[in-house]
This record gives sequence, structure tokens and C-alpha cells, in this order.
Amino acid sequence: MNHFRTHLGRTTLAMASATLVAGVSLAASADTLHPAIETLVEMGYPAPQEGELVHVPPTMADLEASDLHPETKKVIRRGYDLFTDTQQLRGQNVYNDMNCSSCHLGEGRQPFSAPVWAAAVTLPNYRGKNDHVNNLEERIAGCFAYSMNGVPPEYGSDDMLALTAYHQWLAKGAPMYPDQPIYGRGFPHPDRPDELSYENGEALYMENCAVCHSEDGSGYYQNGEYVFPPPWGDGSNNWGAGIVRVHTAAGFIKNNMPLGQPLSLSDQEAWDIAYYMSNQERPQDPRYTGDVAETLERFGPSFHRTSLYGQEGPDGNILADHANWGEKGEDVKPWNIGQPRFKDLED
Ligand code: HEC
Ligand code: HEC
Repeated sequence: MNHFRTHLGRTTLAMASATLVAGVSLAASADTLHPAIETLVEMGYPAPQEGELVHVPPTMADLEASDLHPETKKVIRRGYDLFTDTQQLRGQNVYNDMNCSSCHLGEGRQPFSAPVWAAAVTLPNYRGKNDHVNNLEERIAGCFAYSMNGVPPEYGSDDMLALTAYHQWLAKGAPMYPDQPIYGRGFPHPDRPDELSYENGEALYMENCAVCHSEDGSGYYQNGEYVFPPPWGDGSNNWGAGIVRVHTAAGFIKNNMPLGQPLSLSDQEAWDIAYYMSNQERPQDPRYTGDVAETLERFGPSFHRTSLYGQEGPDGNILADHANWGEKGEDVKPWNIGQPRFKDLED
């Protein structure tokens, strides 16, 4: 666990100075760069563009120092604890080897690592993935069903309340429904190169990534404890997760990996590794109809257009042509998938 903590410390270094001011939000302009953002720019991340919304989320230390009610602090602490140690819900809501913070680095605060506060100020909003208006709970439930290969806690439950409270705490001071684009939102990806190389991606993975994530992508455990998460295989996110889209994987890798050395890979290298990773197997998409071609026909035009779902894999196999649900098995089904809403609303 020590190894893991040390490296985590390095990636979150950029956000350390965020403690200077809690929950500050500014429209970018040359002379208003927050020290935490200055550090990012020094590390090679793009500087905020004129007019972008720059928000530096408060830390847990800021929470302790705040005037919030002690009961509220307890709930936000619980949300933080769930976000960074989601494995405590293993077998109940989580059926893989991930924590929320496995992909949302810096405890969900790090720009270019899909900082989660952005959802708290932009939702409720329409979401193409499920074709209706989602609120924050439903967005979080989405990451449970796909990224955690799990089953979300019930809406309104203690755990869901704690998680939403943590997200909203991180958004402290940011404007609701901002008109400006948000600096560092999501996993911005470099332009797709003309050619992607599986072989090159494999070699680069072995050289730069396997030391932590293992050669077979199964991650790394020590004394039965999770140390490094698995980028593919049964312990990873399922085929319906956002990171299976090759561009999202490339954006994640370019901005965040190898851990502690973000932006060290060229754009071509990040894309080649993403392509290699995206060609590996993982648990089935919970939207699976029982037939991979049919599922692709349904979700190809929207979601799987940019993943390799149902495509020919490295050994001539068809990717995701299986009913392997990972540890979840076929009996446990996420209740939030395919729930329509507002069917009868007038235009
Ligand atoms: C396997 C990686 C992965 C894991 C694990 C994961 N997420 Fe995500 N999450 C993503 C990706 C990819 C996106 C979409 C980012 C984008 O839009 O480019 C996302 C988006 C989000 C958003 C929306 C952010 C925005 O900008 O609107 C929230 C909120 C969120 N995740 C919460 C969670 C929570 C809570 C958990 C744990 C229960 C979790 N995530 C686990 C990959 C992951
Ligand atoms: C020093 C160890 C280390 C190295 C090297 C490393 N990673 Fe990671 N990686 C991590 C850790 C730790 C996390 C989870 C983030 C956290 O908990 O802070 C992670 C998260 C991930 C994730 C999201 C979660 C998952 O398992 O899918 C992917 C994808 C990933 N790394 C890919 C890569 C790739 C590709 C490389 C090589 C370019 C790489 N990593 C190099 C330690 C490492």
C-alpha cells in the first residue's frame, strides 16, 4: 500500500496548493491564475483559455475548517471515504477491483482527470447515453453500473446521499449551470493519429505500464489488498464504461499515466496504448441483448461508435462476444439500466 500512496501523492501534488483558498471559481484571464493551476501549466497542461470556467475544489482540510453543520461534515466525509475506498461496497454495489478514484484522480478534484464537481453544477441535464435528463444521483449510478461493473446504491439511500454531498462539496463556490466551458473537464484527448498500432501499443504498455498494472492487465495485489487497478479483464470496468471508447482511454492515459509522469507519452504513444488496451476483453456491457451484433446495432450509432465493441479483435475473435459478466455473474443486474423517464412530457 505504501508504494501506491507515494505515487498517488505525486499525482495530486499539483492540487496541494488548492488549500490556499477553498472553493474558488474564476473566469480565466491572464492575471487571475490560481497557484494550483499555475503548477499544472508548469507541468505541461494547457493554460486556461480566455473565458473558461476555472474552479479549484476545496479539500477535506477545508471541510474541517468550514462552518458547515457537524452532521453535514460527517456525511461529506462518508462520501469522500466511499469515493476513495469504494471497495468497501464490494459484493453489494461494486463487482470489480476499482474505486471511483481509480479513474478520477486526486480524489475527484484533478483537472484533466474528469473532476467530478463538474457534474454537480451542470446537472440535471440531458444525457445522450441514456437519452433523457439525468440528475447527479443518476450520473453517479451510471459509473456504478458500468465503470464499477456493479449495481448502484438506491437513490436517496445513505450512501448515495453521502456521495452526492461529496460531489457538491467539491463544487463549492462554482456557478450553477455555467455558460462558460469548464477548464480541465473530462479526459480531453489529443487528436487521433492517422494510424494506430496494436504492436506498438503492446510494446509501450509492457515498457511503461505493466510494472504496476501487470502484463496481463489484471492489476496488482499485495496481501489480498488492492494496490493497482486492472485496465482490462474480469476485475476491470465493463464494456459499457466511458473509458472503453478509444479516445477517452487515450485522453485518460495522455493526461494521467504513467502515474506520477503525466504528459510524458507522445500523442501517438498514448493512442497506441489506448488502442492496445481497448482490444482486450472485459465483462459484458449490462445493455447486452444476448447478441453482440444486435447490441452493437442498438448502441453502435451512439455509444459504441468509438469503442471496439463487436469488432474483430487481435486473434480474429469478435470482441465482447460472450456472456461473461465478471464477478457480478448473470443474476445481479443494475436496476438503473434502460429506465425511461418523462415519456409523456409534451414538447
Ligand atoms: C473505469 C474508470 C472510471 C471509474 C472507476 C469511475 N468513473 Fe466516473 N467517469 C469515467 C469516465 C470515462 C467519465 C466520463 C468523462 C468524460 O465525459 O469524458 C466519468 C464521468 C463521471 C462523472 C461526470 C463528470 C462530468 O464532467 O460531468 C461523475 C460525477 C462520475 N464519473 C462519478 C463517478 C463515481 C461516483 C464513481 C464511483 C462510484 C466513478 N465515477 C467511477 C470513468 C470512471
Ligand atoms: C507507478 C504505477 C503505475 C504505472 C507505471 C501506471 N499506472 Fe495506471 N494507474 C496506477 C494507479 C495507482 C491507478 C489508480 C489511480 C489512483 O488510485 O490514484 C491507475 C489507473 C489507471 C487506469 C484507470 C483504472 C483502470 O485500471 O482501468 C488506467 C486505464 C491506467 N492506469 C492505465 C495505465 C497505462 C496505460 C499506463 C502506462 C502508460 C499506466 N497506467 C502506468 C498506477 C500506475
